[in-house]
Amino acid sequence: MKTICCALSAWVGLIAAVSCSGPASREGTLPVYRDETRPIEERVEDALSRMTLEEKVAVLHAQSKFSSAGVPRLGIPELWCTDGPHGIRPEVLWDEWDQAGWTNDSCTAFPALTCLAATWNPEMAALYGKSIGEEARYREKDVLLGPGVNIYRSPLNGRNFEYMGEDPYLAVRMVVPYVQGVQQNGVAACVKHFALNNQETRRHGVNVVVEDRALREIYLPAFRAAVVEGGAWAVMGAYNKYRGEYCCHNDYLLNGILKGEWNFDGAVISDWGGTHDTKQAIENGLDLEYGSWTNGLNQGSSNAYDNYYLANPYLELLRRGEADTATLDNKVRRVLRLIFRTAMNTQKPFGSLNSPEHLAAARRIAGEGMVLLKNDAETLPFDPASMKKLLVVGENAVKMMTVGGGSSSLKVRHECTPLEGIRAAAEPTCEVLFERGYVGDVTGSYNGVKTGQDLTESRSAEQLIADAVAAAREADGVIFIGGLNKSEFQDCEGADRREYGLPYAQDRVIEALAEANPRLAVVLVSGNAVAMPWIGRVPAVVEAWFSGSEAGNALADVLFGKVNPSGKLPFTFPVRLEDNAAHALGEFPGGDSVRYNEGIFVGYRWHEIREIEPLFPFGHGLSYTTFDYSNLRLSSDRMTADGTISLQVDVTNTGSRPGAEVVQLYIGDEESLSERPIKELKGFEKVFLNPGETRSVTMTIDTDALKFYDDREHRWVAEPGEFSVHVGASSADIRLTGSFTLR
Ligand code: GLC
Repeated sequence: MKTICCALSAWVGLIAAVSCSGPASREGTLPVYRDETRPIEERVEDALSRMTLEEKVAVLHAQSKFSSAGVPRLGIPELWCTDGPHGIRPEVLWDEWDQAGWTNDSCTAFPALTCLAATWNPEMAALYGKSIGEEARYREKDVLLGPGVNIYRSPLNGRNFEYMGEDPYLAVRMVVPYVQGVQQNGVAACVKHFALNNQETRRHGVNVVVEDRALREIYLPAFRAAVVEGGAWAVMGAYNKYRGEYCCHNDYLLNGILKGEWNFDGAVISDWGGTHDTKQAIENGLDLEYGSWTNGLNQGSSNAYDNYYLANPYLELLRRGEADTATLDNKVRRVLRLIFRTAMNTQKPFGSLNSPEHLAAARRIAGEGMVLLKNDAETLPFDPASMKKLLVVGENAVKMMTVGGGSSSLKVRHECTPLEGIRAAAEPTCEVLFERGYVGDVTGSYNGVKTGQDLTESRSAEQLIADAVAAAREADGVIFIGGLNKSEFQDCEGADRREYGLPYAQDRVIEALAEANPRLAVVLVSGNAVAMPWIGRVPAVVEAWFSGSEAGNALADVLFGKVNPSGKLPFTFPVRLEDNAAHALGEFPGGDSVRYNEGIFVGYRWHEIREIEPLFPFGHGLSYTTFDYSNLRLSSDRMTADGTISLQVDVTNTGSRPGAEVVQLYIGDEESLSERPIKELKGFEKVFLNPGETRSVTMTIDTDALKFYDDREHRWVAEPGEFSVHVGASSADIRLTGSFTLR
């Protein structure tokens, strides 16, 4: 009898356990929400059904600087976020921006995203995403707060270095593989900053006024591609306002476009300090509130997380029946989906940190992204073997660039500076001398991370130039390494640049060096275009970007010809700031509102329609070899509404070195009733060719490549008529043209 009773009570207990904790999976072992063999939506519904009201609200907001709650009672893990787009941020204290002082959180710094975009190679974006995702995974992070894909509207925007340039099509092609690469690690990409965060001045509240057409054609495509093609699991709202509403809770952007038109099923995460109102956060599409009451950089009141807009204030509204549970459940579903895809995903790989593969990836991407802007008389590549003395001048040859710049600042295992890389490659056959040339920013710390460099300098500016000139006169070649840096008012979050020219009177140093030695190469370490008043006196110029842990080795690879440069500019270099659309029309950075009066005419679109010669055009980049384009043929001279046209062109390496060319395809609408750019980028392919080799490159377009957004009809329209085809090595170096008619 006793045995039967025990058995009976055990069965009763089991049934009770199962019933109160909801349905179990078919095998009867795991509750459905834990069973990864079940469809994720079933798991979400099961978890939701088990959660209390308090637990539902708890998962919608941060519990620390970079984490938000799970459901401890159900064993649903919390979410851990990390910056940033170029590498995994070092650990900070629970509720502070300052360093936690861990000793196991140094990382690989990958090149800045302008450099990635400049590779014009989606395979590099895939490699980048996979590699940075592996580092995030190894550091046990669930959400990577990147990539940033805000369009380059002005050369003064402090954060352009974190983004992918001025053209939506280039950003579209490069962001998708990055997102997919990150997420294959079970780490969510959190594409940012959605949307229209194109300046740092008054970023926490500036109201962007832009016509729908420019919003759709220029500023949204990369976000749309990241979500629709890339499958991004998270999107970060921007600080600024659009149509008078903060982007972190903006009905039109979040509910209308992102979750409505694009069917985004992931979570909208606020920027840190981007949430400003409980009811708007509830009703206008915010799912996960982070960083309230902080400036998103380094200040913030440690206001208890229960006081967050989506914390107790939300709970109170729910308890009083003044907020509906359907909206609550929709948010919770999105957060649960994010958790199941990441923190609770037991199938994800284990990642890796500071691996040789990651350093190799950083070096390869950097080498492919550096842009040879000018190379008269084949000044470059330098051949150290034939040189006795090579002089390197400039603070950016020695200054670490992985520390600073705002939330993308990193603590790297090692950063190979340009001087280190050049010395490693050139010595001992060639003696490499260094002269400071100028003093820029001698600080070397951000958020408690210190470079450890002592850049103090006692000599006067005149003395520094005199010493550099004296050394230049004795050298077989001179490399000036300057540009911008990651300090405030340079390439840095939180403020915009104050001038278009190079800071710290670098122009004077460059002029003096050009006078002293004609074999001069100028290397710019920067994330923005700059003025070059000395360009006529300098035979060779390289844009080296902020290129991460392997910066110096990658630069030496390019300067000495181990890597044949193949980068192309992802944004225009205007001669003067006034040649840029936003500045020509007087709307940067604006006041409480900023009007994008240039509309769709951003970057080369502006330069071409206004016939303003740029210093260096969009898509420009030279090689140590030369390429010939021939035999452009179209599969047809007419396209039907649902058809496609394939274009083929033969590219030949007509020089003596292997190299890569980015074949660019631009399309122009020759019979348009509305104003359209002269031509727009609608295709590109990077081909690697040996000397003498010819490759046939094929690009296929459909009517999407012909459409513009009609903001009267609120739809994309391709107008019948003639379209021109422009194939070339840059937007201004068109080699072959053709045309076809859209029926
Ligand atoms: C910052 C940035 C954002 C970053 C976040 C967390 O203010 O705007 O890009 O991911 O806050 O540091």
